[in-house]
Amino acid sequence: MILSIESSCDDSSIAITELKSKKILFHKKISQESSHACYGGVVPELAARLHAKALPDILKQTKEFLPHIKAVAVTNEPGLSVTLVEGVTMAKALSIALRVPILPINHLKGHVYSLFLEQDERLPMGILLVSGGHTQVLHVKAYNDIEILATSLDDSFGESFDKVSKMLGYGYPGGVVVENLAKKGDEDRFNFTVPLSNSPKLAFSYSGLKNQVRLEIAKLSSEISEQDKCDICASFQKVAIKHLIQKIKKLLKLHRFEHFGIVGGASANIYLKNEFAKLFSNVQTPPLKYCSDNAAMIGRAALRAYELGEFCSFEAIDVRAKSSF
Ligand code: KG4
Ligand code: ZN
Repeated sequence: MILSIESSCDDSSIAITELKSKKILFHKKISQESSHACYGGVVPELAARLHAKALPDILKQTKEFLPHIKAVAVTNEPGLSVTLVEGVTMAKALSIALRVPILPINHLKGHVYSLFLEQDERLPMGILLVSGGHTQVLHVKAYNDIEILATSLDDSFGESFDKVSKMLGYGYPGGVVVENLAKKGDEDRFNFTVPLSNSPKLAFSYSGLKNQVRLEIAKLSSEISEQDKCDICASFQKVAIKHLIQKIKKLLKLHRFEHFGIVGGASANIYLKNEFAKLFSNVQTPPLKYCSDNAAMIGRAALRAYELGEFCSFEAIDVRAKSSF
């Protein structure tokens, strides 16, 4: 079995995965969302302290599996350095105590492999990664052969939802809040312009759109009604997703993908999935509970790393805030 640990941002999670059957034997996640909500975003120092409490609390529940562990997998990039260190330190301690090697796992690869938790690995694949930290289109040819085809120049897709939620006076994370308000809104009321629509660049940008929303909210000032908020969310969401679709259509002129998947926290967004279903006949998304950060996807990626022998000693492993691919 592999024990996997995730602590790259605000979710403390541990999973146990069986090597042969790929079955998840244990999975637990403690989300810190409610602790960060009042700050409108993740406070790294607070997140690190909460991981230091939550990870051992979860680990306690895995005692029966510990004699069967063959390797400890841990997210070591990309993410908040101070929170990555919490998971990596636990992995080092387990590596020493259980006398097993460590498998360092890239968080973004974890999101890609969340697609293969309930079905067989199917690569090569085109992937749209939409999370709080990233907006990228990837050509995933193999576990260690990933090409970035497009990326965000500024804010990420998920982050823009978080910021719109915050500007409207709602908490963090904003993805679900904005999506739910949008359901009751008129998406044609506000004419936000689609970012980079006249640019040939294969890139994404969300800071300008966020600014357009900020100006509309300022115009409505304290008179803003519940319906105004729903209309803003609907108009914003429509344009945020139209931007993704426009750029992907451009990309499709250069690349052909037999399979396409959407991963990352924002892959839970129904409007997004419906729009992509119009472009691809069979868009893959992870099971809903594995869209946002979790250790099960890290365990699934680790099965591949284990087969490839990507082991690391507790002395050699390090954390990186940025992704190395
Ligand atoms: O992958 P994830 O759990 O963490 C990172 O690796 O960043 O993604 C979290 C992000 C947050 O920004 C959250 O607001 C966004 O995903 N998100 C959504 C939705 N659910 C979560 N964005 C849009 N629509 C959603 N339904
Ligand atoms: Zn993530």
